[in-house]
Amino acid sequence: MHAPSSLDAYLEKNKTRFERELCELLRIPSVSADSGHKADVRRAAEWLAHQFRRLKLSVELIDTPGNPIVYAESPPVEGAPTVLVYGHYDVQPPDPLSAWISPPFEPTVRDGNLYARGATDDKGQMLTHVKSAEAWMAVEGHLPVQLKFVIEGEEEVGSANLDSFIEKNAKRLACDCVAISDTCQFGPGQPAITYGLRGIAYYELRLTGPKQDLHSGTFGGAVANPANALCTMLTALIDAEGRVQVPGFYDDVVSLTLRQRSELKKLPFDENEFMKQIGVEALAGEDGFTTLERRWARPTFDVSGLSSGYQGEGAKTVLPATAVGKFSFRLVPNQDPKKISAALEAKLRALCPGGIQMELIDFHGAPGIVIPLDSPYVAAAERAIEAGFGRRPVFMREGGSIPVVTTFHDLLGVDTLLLGWGQDDDNMHSPNEKFSLADFHRGIKASAHLWYELGQLKKP
Ligand code: BES
Ligand code: MN
Ligand code: MN
Repeated sequence: MHAPSSLDAYLEKNKTRFERELCELLRIPSVSADSGHKADVRRAAEWLAHQFRRLKLSVELIDTPGNPIVYAESPPVEGAPTVLVYGHYDVQPPDPLSAWISPPFEPTVRDGNLYARGATDDKGQMLTHVKSAEAWMAVEGHLPVQLKFVIEGEEEVGSANLDSFIEKNAKRLACDCVAISDTCQFGPGQPAITYGLRGIAYYELRLTGPKQDLHSGTFGGAVANPANALCTMLTALIDAEGRVQVPGFYDDVVSLTLRQRSELKKLPFDENEFMKQIGVEALAGEDGFTTLERRWARPTFDVSGLSSGYQGEGAKTVLPATAVGKFSFRLVPNQDPKKISAALEAKLRALCPGGIQMELIDFHGAPGIVIPLDSPYVAAAERAIEAGFGRRPVFMREGGSIPVVTTFHDLLGVDTLLLGWGQDDDNMHSPNEKFSLADFHRGIKASAHLWYELGQLKKP
């Protein structure tokens, strides 16, 4: 049995229109971190709702204290599973603007890649599932499974209103599995199913010293300098061997099994290619682990932003009054972000010098997750990806975080299929974000076949 071939023909015939529609969505600067873009964020939600209405799905724009959630549902299919599709229509801020070759909200094609903020994360990937649903509706007049789309607008700022939405609507969102395309393939031409994500615990440390900036000659050496203190305190959080120095940090870490380590070693990962891609001459990380283990299965500490003192041209001798650092830990399964917050705060308080006030802001935390592979849904996804990409997927993990995967597991009791259509070098969160148009179309085809393959499974 195969998916109807008229489906593939429909996808082929509508390629240019799909690209045009993706460009429409990419032109809307739905930056959730920037309140100045509030209206654009809503416009993106409305654009999506309109897409779903055209498919004759029942659609609702659900307001939250933050940005709206777009919910769309197709009718139940007797005897077939129900699949919840999650994605996000919000994007990261585009800065630094000067590093973009073409403007972030003017989608531009170069070398078969579509460049724009959100191209791969997540507008392009998310839209593959909308377009595959469209193909089924156009060709067959119905879907082979029931789909429930939950597309949110606050993913890039921590999804503050999503968990309570899922909790309140658990009945309505009941499903047999979840599908998310918001990750990467293993590499060009090598699709993957991701079975593990790291979690995250993100903080801002604010240090305040003297009541205003001081002359560093007149006062330096006699007054604690918040910028110095910030450097000292942050440096104390990791040692030279790459081990995080928060007490108890490793207590709950689940070690990789020998089997898992040998599976990871089988993946065709090229260290030199990887260094070239990111433009470094050496790699660094926790002693005793390979690069893939460090990226996917070990916890880390990274500073994401530092601000203090004079940032302008030339030199200015100043002892700054304040210093702010933003940083996060990536977590692996079983580590508890709350436990880490408490131990971190105690450690920083002990390190904070006299004469400096500290405030630690806890932005968001989410545990890591590993998803079981022995399910009929995973097998169906393997077949669908082979149909779409012409190659069987490998199984991999990722270092990034999608906290809602844990929420779906805990509140709805279902596992997620992480079907990433992106590439590691798509510049997610960076300047010149892109998405391969070939991967966009392969993703749509894989998605169309996924609904077929899942429809062949009996409802549990
Ligand atoms: N799509 C990413 C998550 C991702 C990226 C997973 C690459 C795997 C590989 C998502 O939009 C994202 O950026 N998530 C945030 C999490 C957050 C803000 C809580 C992240 O990972 O930093
Ligand atoms: Mn994303
Ligand atoms: Mn992202």
